[in-house]
Amino acid sequence: MMINKICLQNFRNYEDETIKFMPGTNILIGDNGQGKTNIIEGIYYLLTGKSYRVHREQELLRWDQSEFHLYGDFLMNNHKLSLESHYKNRKKIVKINQVSCQRLSDFVGTINVIFFSPDDLVMIKGGPSERRRFLDLHIAQMRPGHVSLLNAYNKAIHQKSALLKAYTEKHQKYAQIQLWNEQIIDLGTKIIRNRADLSKRLQDAANGIYKNLSSQKETLQIFYSALGQKSVTEAISEFPRLMNEKLEQEIERQIILVGPHRDDLHILLNDRPGRLYASQGQQRSLVLSLKLAELELIRQEKGEYPLLLLDDVLSELDRFRRDYLIKFIESSHIQTLITMTSADKHLDLGTRFHVKQGHIRREN
Ligand SMILES: Nc1ncnc2c1ncn2[C@@H]1O[C@H](COP(=O)(O)OP(=O)(O)O)[C@@H](O)[C@H]1O
Ligand SMILES: [Mg+2]
Repeated sequence: MMINKICLQNFRNYEDETIKFMPGTNILIGDNGQGKTNIIEGIYYLLTGKSYRVHREQELLRWDQSEFHLYGDFLMNNHKLSLESHYKNRKKIVKINQVSCQRLSDFVGTINVIFFSPDDLVMIKGGPSERRRFLDLHIAQMRPGHVSLLNAYNKAIHQKSALLKAYTEKHQKYAQIQLWNEQIIDLGTKIIRNRADLSKRLQDAANGIYKNLSSQKETLQIFYSALGQKSVTEAISEFPRLMNEKLEQEIERQIILVGPHRDDLHILLNDRPGRLYASQGQQRSLVLSLKLAELELIRQEKGEYPLLLLDDVLSELDRFRRDYLIKFIESSHIQTLITMTSADKHLDLGTRFHVKQGHIRREN
């Protein structure tokens, strides 16, 4: 998959700027605060309908403006595809090849994208919700139905939670909760299956990469822990029983205690939790391995690599890991956009762009 062109109008610090990208590596160089990340964010927003930095579109609007436009030309399996996102009056209109799209899930995953920044270390260091998000984002790119599934599940959780807090007679509460529980079990089981399936496939791909990054000395293991059970099969078959068992407690404490919204993805380094025992460098290797594994899985499923966006990642990696990453990108011909603050003498590759105060100039 490839991006040929992006046009940003009144998006962040861009008034009206168009960039034509090239196949292979594209490097965006500029001092801090010039607009490098804003370009990456614009592309990510166009492809996913969401920013990874803010929740509200309002913040993406160039100051004092009332609407922004993003246009992008892409190639997918050698077919041209144009995407357009227009935000105005707190509403957004999305078009694929000039045709309006009704729902976000109609276009998410059309063009796949992997984004990697130093903040991704939260995948290791942060709480379970960060790791669930990582899994869900990846699944959503491959199976658009996962987004609707999560939305339906979250709605059921929300309703059940409101019911637990409501001042209703106990016997009435029981009956209503049972109805939501049935839905939560049905939707939750599908979510668990999707996540467990992806985790298994990621484990196979990521461990091989991690071994290479650590000169075969260390192992990376990941597994999805569902409903606190030993295995996913057990979790699925025990789901109704666990629900019933906790019902009293749930009513008493007014919180939901069972469901995949509490699950975690365990990331182990040499059989120990990476979160607790991995050094900073090892944590970076773990994330890098998972990201590269994601690239491989998308290629296996879609027949071509996704677009790769690397925001300030290279300066964070030591020489060995950086060289590994660059070799990987170059040998697999993944189209990659890399941001960095100063031109690296050792990095004489790709097409270079200079970014200064919301203007972009191609350098070679
Ligand atoms: N909504 C906005 N409107 C105008 N300028 C913005 C907006 N949001 C951020 N900026 C400006 O964009 C710049 C930051 O851009 P960014 O892409 O994060 O920089 P970097 O080149 O360091 O990656 C800052 O100068 C900031 O003031
Ligand atoms: Mg930046």
